[in-house]
Amino acid sequence: MKKKPYRLHLMVCGGTACVSNHSFEIKEALENELKKKGLEEEVLVVTTGCNGFCEAGPLLVVKPDNIFYNRLTVEDIPHLVEEHFLKGRPVKKLMYVPPKEELPIPKLSDIGFFKNQILLALRNRGLIDPEKIDDYIARDGYKSLTKALTKMTPEEIITEVKNSGLRGRGGAGFPTGVKWEFVRNAEGEPKYLICNGDEGDPGAFMDRSIIEADPHSVLEGMLIGARGIGAKEGFIYVRNEYPLALQRMYIAIDQAREYGLLGKDILGTGFDFDVTVVRGAGAFVCGEETALMASVEGRLGEPRPRPPYPAQSGLWGKPTNINNVETWANVPVIIDRGAKWYSSIGTELSKGTKVFSVVGKVKDTGLVEVPMGLSLGDIIFDICGGILKDRKFKAVQIGGPSGGCVPAKLLNLPVDYEQLTQAGSMMGSGGMVAIDENTCMVDLAHYFLTFTKGESCGKCTPCREGIPRMLEILSKIKEGRGEMEDLTLLEDLATSIKATALCGLGNTAPNPVLTTLRYFRNEYEDHIKYKKCPAGVCNEIVSSPCHHTCPIGTEASSYVALIAQGKFKEALEVNRWVNPLPSVCGRVCHHPCEIRCRAGEVAEPIAIRHLKRFIADYERTNGGRPSVKPVSKKYEKVAIIGSGPAGLMAGWELGKQGYEATIFEAESVPGGMLAWGIPEYRLPKNILNSEIEAIKELGVEIKTNTPIGKDLTIDDLFKQGYKAVFIATGAPVNMKLGIPGEDVEGVIDPIEFLKKYNLNKEAKVGQKVAVIGGGNTAIDSARTAWRLGAEVTILYRRTRPEMPANEEEIDEALKEGIKIDFLTLPIKAYAKNGKLYKIKCTRMALGDFDKSGRRRPVPVEGSEFEMEIDTLIPAIGQQPDLTFLDGKGKLKISKWNTLEVDPETKATNMPGMFAGGDVVSGPATVLEAMQAGKIAAESIHKYLRGESLERDYKPTEPKLEVPAAEVTPEEAEELERPEMPALSVEERKGNFKEVELGLSEELAIREAKRCLRCDLESKGGKK
Ligand SMILES: Cc1cc2nc3c(=O)[nH]c(=O)nc-3n(C[C@H](O)[C@H](O)[C@H](O)COP(=O)(O)OP(=O)(O)OC[C@H]3O[C@@H](n4cnc5c(N)ncnc54)[C@H](O)[C@@H]3O)c2cc1C
Ligand SMILES: Cc1cc2nc3c(=O)[nH]c(=O)nc-3n(C[C@H](O)[C@H](O)[C@H](O)COP(=O)(O)O)c2cc1C
Ligand code: SF4
Ligand code: SF4
Ligand code: FES
Repeated sequence: MKKKPYRLHLMVCGGTACVSNHSFEIKEALENELKKKGLEEEVLVVTTGCNGFCEAGPLLVVKPDNIFYNRLTVEDIPHLVEEHFLKGRPVKKLMYVPPKEELPIPKLSDIGFFKNQILLALRNRGLIDPEKIDDYIARDGYKSLTKALTKMTPEEIITEVKNSGLRGRGGAGFPTGVKWEFVRNAEGEPKYLICNGDEGDPGAFMDRSIIEADPHSVLEGMLIGARGIGAKEGFIYVRNEYPLALQRMYIAIDQAREYGLLGKDILGTGFDFDVTVVRGAGAFVCGEETALMASVEGRLGEPRPRPPYPAQSGLWGKPTNINNVETWANVPVIIDRGAKWYSSIGTELSKGTKVFSVVGKVKDTGLVEVPMGLSLGDIIFDICGGILKDRKFKAVQIGGPSGGCVPAKLLNLPVDYEQLTQAGSMMGSGGMVAIDENTCMVDLAHYFLTFTKGESCGKCTPCREGIPRMLEILSKIKEGRGEMEDLTLLEDLATSIKATALCGLGNTAPNPVLTTLRYFRNEYEDHIKYKKCPAGVCNEIVSSPCHHTCPIGTEASSYVALIAQGKFKEALEVNRWVNPLPSVCGRVCHHPCEIRCRAGEVAEPIAIRHLKRFIADYERTNGGRPSVKPVSKKYEKVAIIGSGPAGLMAGWELGKQGYEATIFEAESVPGGMLAWGIPEYRLPKNILNSEIEAIKELGVEIKTNTPIGKDLTIDDLFKQGYKAVFIATGAPVNMKLGIPGEDVEGVIDPIEFLKKYNLNKEAKVGQKVAVIGGGNTAIDSARTAWRLGAEVTILYRRTRPEMPANEEEIDEALKEGIKIDFLTLPIKAYAKNGKLYKIKCTRMALGDFDKSGRRRPVPVEGSEFEMEIDTLIPAIGQQPDLTFLDGKGKLKISKWNTLEVDPETKATNMPGMFAGGDVVSGPATVLEAMQAGKIAAESIHKYLRGESLERDYKPTEPKLEVPAAEVTPEEAEELERPEMPALSVEERKGNFKEVELGLSEELAIREAKRCLRCDLESKGGKK
């Protein structure tokens, strides 16, 4: 009796990643459960090869309806079988939910990762059981072989492959058909064929996956190639570290032999061909064709000079054709669908598709097959979901250890052989490692070169001697001992090794160094000149990433460690070494330390800002701030214009040293944006004022209501005996939108709006407010308007990950019910009787990538819509107001209307005049302004003491050695980043009470205990 077809096929992924995540156990559990429910005749469980989306494994795809389940465990199975396979109700909670979204995507074909892929080499992935030749045949397997053996001459086969434009996928990209022709025409018999499955690049797993998922596609390709070339014997070289691939290949070969598809008289055509599997010992250099052949012959796997090429003299001196696994897997497709069809995919010189293993810092790592010419950005962002934790994309290393880094500014680069080579990288075999802002490019070059050094066979001098020399220089730079001349030496060495090494390993090993030097030279210079590793990675100069990254050098690792031990006052003291405003920073700092925090690599970063606030608040509530002893004034008078964080910091530093520092402030209160920009609900003014008082107690005078440029000019200051001037006047001038109608009543300046409220509590808004922009000013304006009772919508032209405002502020705004319309841009404002009543907006779509690596928003034609509002707050950026310099015209001003200074010293072009903070950088952050104030104070001191302004840079080293707190493994397991206690939304309405309430003592200690104590790992920590 004919068996009834199965109602459902459960395709369980049996690729290496899923298997290591227990997919075989899941399969067994499925079979048992189906049996229990009596479903074994209706539902068939099939093991497939890798589906590519290894990140989400273990996977199960239900056919025919394509329902996709991910991250399964054995415990999920009874419920899944009961619900879906018995009762027909797919289980939502086991489906894939994209990061930051809530709704699951039921079908595989609707998941971003699988869209935009074109599967040729991977045509059978997830669709067949790789251990069953019948499955392959059912998907038209061996049809191309039949065609090649029965309907085509060897010459026609070669012509078809040549016309298809197929190029070798093993790295060099040599035209496959041309190579076959060389071998066919070469003198000598027998001729051999090799499949190169060595795949030694760290992070690459294309070839392994192809063999694991579809070994017959490789065999069929080789059979067709053998017929074209005239070979009877082939070798499949697979590294021994690929046990599953080896096992599946052995099974495939046995089955093909059984079916008469390998061996003698294949398909009765008189054609003979058979293969032998050779297991490689895992040396990268054995992937090089001449070394590989030596290894197959049983000799030492060392390359030899070419010519002669393998096509003339290969295995045992006979003509040999060697192709990569993926190259072979493409061949049946070309024979089946024809060269014309195949060559219609891809770019002019790079045809077809390419399989990439995308690993590193992307959200969805895995194996993707895309048409040649797709942009790098499309692969990284559209298919692989973008960068983990929405960090900044920095570069992608393509082509394995001997490839090169392509930077964010080249995200539009179409990926093909020529374009990648032009960018200094190469296709290689298709490894892609995505790199985020927390990766140090010098360290990365060092890492890859360490790999190639270890893999060099040592046969030729440039590679054997040159790579270690390059590594020595890189180590020197990483350790902060580098000199600028080292960069020239590195470049010279790299270029000559490239030109003179014997084989491809040496020829390409310098690529990571050359490309990082080309695109990230500034990072090398930072290590050399400033002893700075911007990514906070190089342990020899980085005490801990948090300490190293803090713009004013706060020893965060030490104070976090003291908090873990309950030593709160000591912890605050560590802050006060460098920071006069810890309570302020504990509330509004943009915390770059947390972005670099290594705890964030494994879980959530330590809540460093919250901890700082905790110790500052602890002091206030437990005895108050100790009064500051005034310093005796022994030095000259220095004038500071502006009392924002830059001015306050400079005043504090100068005051501590005994200068007679006077801060001139135009407004009625000191603090700059801290006082009249940032609202009370984030930064209570009594707290700000108490820290400003401590600065004043040092002897720093603050003259409010004293604008410089009106009654008192800078020249007057010098005349009054001030020996140096620091200009820290900020960037308060709001930028215009440049749209028709923006000058009508109802369009208000955000800075004026916030100032009015903060200083006099008298700002007014209407009922329906739209705020434009994505920075802190936009969010603060929106949240202020909401507190004043308005219904508020923020319009932002890009998407959430690109919003420059502090992440926490965006979250809070959303909680408060403020709507954010992403990808929206206002284009016109309309007034009735002179008053704003509506705006017209257009929707935006994300287009290609700009130089910063962000997608450019472009208007969507026909998407215009209108919004009725009575208040519009355009907060798209600010500029300095330099009118107070009126007529002087001697200070250099940039095209962005900011003051130009020497970035290292903050000295302007005028002697005795220094500038820093937003007036130089444009709108930035509190901490950057404080850093500028600190540097300016140091320079002013040197200037007045007649010393050179040149700064002496040192690696960061902790001053304090704090022993590690005791944390039991059980305790460590339970620790997690605490939520900041906050007012409920109801409690915030109509008032400006502080929203964040601060961590409790218990929460603070627990959080501090989570710190990994990176400082104990660093050179400084070990001293
Ligand atoms: C609404 C808003 C929210 C923000 N939120 C954050 C945040 O959460 N975190 C963060 O890190 N950054 C934030 N920022 C940015 C941050 O406030 C600024 O980068 C920082 O204050 C710049 O410091 P500054 O000292 O250079 O200038 P400012 O703070 O702008 O201070 C300049 C001072 O100079 C005075 N002045 C100007 N001209 C004269 C003159 N001719 N004579 C005398 N005095 C003069 C001004 O009155 C002002 O007091 C925010 C900015 C705004 C506008
Ligand atoms: C150091 C080194 C390692 C290589 N490793 C591999 C490899 O793992 N797999 C591969 O197919 N080709 C590798 N190659 C390229 C091979 O030498 C050869 O070009 C390729 O196998 C030819 O096949 P193709 O034309 O199909 O690309 C390597 C080359 C070098 C220099
Ligand atoms: S370049 Fe390096 S790997 Fe290649 S032959 Fe020379 S020493 Fe060996
Ligand atoms: S884990 Fe601790 S020491 Fe390391 S960066 Fe984070 S806070 Fe600093
Ligand atoms: S191993 Fe299962 S998706 Fe890759």
